[in-house]
Amino acid sequence: MNITASRHVRAQQVALLIGSRSPIAAHSRISGIIAMNDICMPALSRRNFLTSLLATAVLPWATTSPGAAAPNVRQFRLRAATGTASLNPRSEQETGVWAYNKTVPGPELRVRQGDRLRIMVENGLAKETTVHWHGVRTPNAMDGVPHLTQRPIATGDSFAYEFDALDAGTFWYHPHQRSFEQVDRGLYGALVIEEANPIPVDRDLVWVLDDWRLTHQGDASDDFGHPHDAAHNGRMGNIVTINGQVPETFEVRRGERIRLRLINAANARIFGLDFRDHQPVVIALDGQPVTPHSQEAGRIVLGPAMRADIVLDCTGRPGERFTIEDTFYTGLEYNLLTIAYQDEPLREAVPDWPLELPANPLAEPDFANALRHEVLFTGGMMGAMVMQEMGLATASGGTVDGMGAMMRGGGIWLVNGVAAEGHVLEPMLALPRGKSCVLAMTNATAWHHPIHLHGHSFRVISRDGAPTSHREWRDTVLMAPRERIEIAFVADNPGDWMFHCHILEHQASGMTSVIRVA
Ligand code: C2O
Ligand code: CU
Repeated sequence: MNITASRHVRAQQVALLIGSRSPIAAHSRISGIIAMNDICMPALSRRNFLTSLLATAVLPWATTSPGAAAPNVRQFRLRAATGTASLNPRSEQETGVWAYNKTVPGPELRVRQGDRLRIMVENGLAKETTVHWHGVRTPNAMDGVPHLTQRPIATGDSFAYEFDALDAGTFWYHPHQRSFEQVDRGLYGALVIEEANPIPVDRDLVWVLDDWRLTHQGDASDDFGHPHDAAHNGRMGNIVTINGQVPETFEVRRGERIRLRLINAANARIFGLDFRDHQPVVIALDGQPVTPHSQEAGRIVLGPAMRADIVLDCTGRPGERFTIEDTFYTGLEYNLLTIAYQDEPLREAVPDWPLELPANPLAEPDFANALRHEVLFTGGMMGAMVMQEMGLATASGGTVDGMGAMMRGGGIWLVNGVAAEGHVLEPMLALPRGKSCVLAMTNATAWHHPIHLHGHSFRVISRDGAPTSHREWRDTVLMAPRERIEIAFVADNPGDWMFHCHILEHQASGMTSVIRVA
């Protein structure tokens, strides 16, 4: 299929209850301040939601000063329910999915920086669910973590999420309840927050990457959370989709400049995209602007949950075709799709337009006065061996023998010696609000882990002791086996925040913890 803007946008328009930019905005001018953080937010009924709309005004945490212009309120509705999708255009098979508003991915929510979002989530599933706004610095009560920040949304119930779009960038949303099953079945979507003055491009497109483990009948294989996957690299699928479709060609025109927002929504697959003969420029990572640079080693690496905004300049000639290859796993390389040049060039040379995005309002960590904490990740298959190699005594760091744990199906992974079970509520770390913090993380395992912190973005400051070249802001950082990474951030968003591996089978089998900011 052709992944073109028009087709995508049309689908979204049908699926979306388009947010209103004007009539609802009046509510936000109410000047009373409701301390949402202090209110236990139950799953709201629809009527309660409407009543609460009238009462809800400025969130105390938002950096809105009195007298500041009232934000535009953008309203959306997401209904999670079962449905079907034809993922592969070359096959007749329909796959049973769980989807938002009947589409996989769910509707692309696109707003402006400074807007306020109000998203009514209805649970039409037979199971409890929640929605987490991955990478968005929401107030804690809007973070969508079951039992930690809200009660799960019961079947037939609704929950109203409301938060300000503080940062521009590419984000996404997904359930945080049994994510390893719910995300994998198709519950996810893009949340794009546009800059007030976006950089000029010919097309601005979102590619949500995912993989699926399908049976011969075309159904999602129901071995979710299988202990073997959990102890190794997670649930890998057997087909890869972009925006819910196995892609074939991507049509472009010579001279065109495209902003591609890549989102990895897979449970476990790490993508390493090689754009052969093209030189995409990375302009943002996990939504946050980065000094424009072309990717080292010529490929864009995205662990689960990670995003990259890239600018693709189409320098080929009419009629030419190029393959984008995913080369991340040695021996398992495959062609993702073909870039096909149309006959009509758009212009002879690509435009010389600016690439640099304006910075988001993130607090800069103060290294002289930063608190420092060590975080040790252990466990998984061959974990004991790696700990030994790294000179980490298995007794002190704590590990579980991968095979034994795998057979028992219990905690397979540990964060600072603790294998989380069930819903984690007790914080591993408490950080004083407003303090700068450095987390020195060690991956003493034989596997990659994309480590995600909720509620904050952090700078990646070093890898294996060497300063990183871009000190990039991220919300998820991919740690290679045996790697040591330091991240730094200001703990300025109060609440209890999840800190976990985003390989969802790892998250569900111990690799999860809570960081408290108070
Ligand atoms: Cu994308 Cu804790 O999540
Ligand atoms: Cu992991």
